[in-house]
Amino acid sequence: MKLNIKRFLLCAVIGVSLAGSLGATAAEAAPTKIAIVYFSQTGNTRYLAEMIKAQTGGELIELIPQDAYSQEYREVVARGKRELEGKVKPPLKDGKTPSIENYDVVFIGSPNWFNTYATPLATFFAGNSFKGKVVIPFCTYGSRVGNTLVDITKACPGAVAKEGFGAPGKEVKEAQSKAKVQKWLDGLGFKKQ
Ligand SMILES: Cc1cc2nc3c(=O)[nH]c(=O)nc-3n(C[C@H](O)[C@H](O)[C@H](O)COP(=O)(O)O)c2cc1C
Repeated sequence: MKLNIKRFLLCAVIGVSLAGSLGATAAEAAPTKIAIVYFSQTGNTRYLAEMIKAQTGGELIELIPQDAYSQEYREVVARGKRELEGKVKPPLKDGKTPSIENYDVVFIGSPNWFNTYATPLATFFAGNSFKGKVVIPFCTYGSRVGNTLVDITKACPGAVAKEGFGAPGKEVKEAQSKAKVQKWLDGLGFKKQ
């Protein structure tokens, strides 16, 4: 009997701490602070980030490279490839890398660039600690997710990773994508109010 009471108390403690980490219904839990960190070159990933904000109430944090990428496709491909191969961490706006120190849950989004995340995220990863954070990756892509979501998760050592989401860039504004995003976030416990 004693053992059962101990188990009950353990479950109650775990239940309260989980509620606190993902949405908080327990009266004692501090409100969960949510950030939605993203890079977007042509707007698709930004649109997805804004949908996430609409449902979770998180704060948008855009990663803006100090030296903007060209709007000319061939040029951005050439620079992106150069940066990826050279493991370059391009400086972000004003030489400052946004901090996630004050957040509990961090959505992290990127376009798929060469089967992984875009290089401005490498700068963000290098400048932050993810220990104890809940990390949720998202991306948009041209033809496939590739390793983008997995690589974002791998770049956040010490974090608890939750299920990510990817959408084709050209479909992201369509109603069916909105429904998929809603379902994904519902499944993570972020019910639409
Ligand atoms: C430099 C570069 C590399 C890309 N590499 C891939 C790729 O490997 N696989 C893929 O499916 N899409 C690739 N794409 C397409 C983008 O992932 C897609 O257009 C995305 O929705 C763009 O997001 P954004 O509007 O937020 O920048 C690439 C695009 C660029 C500019």
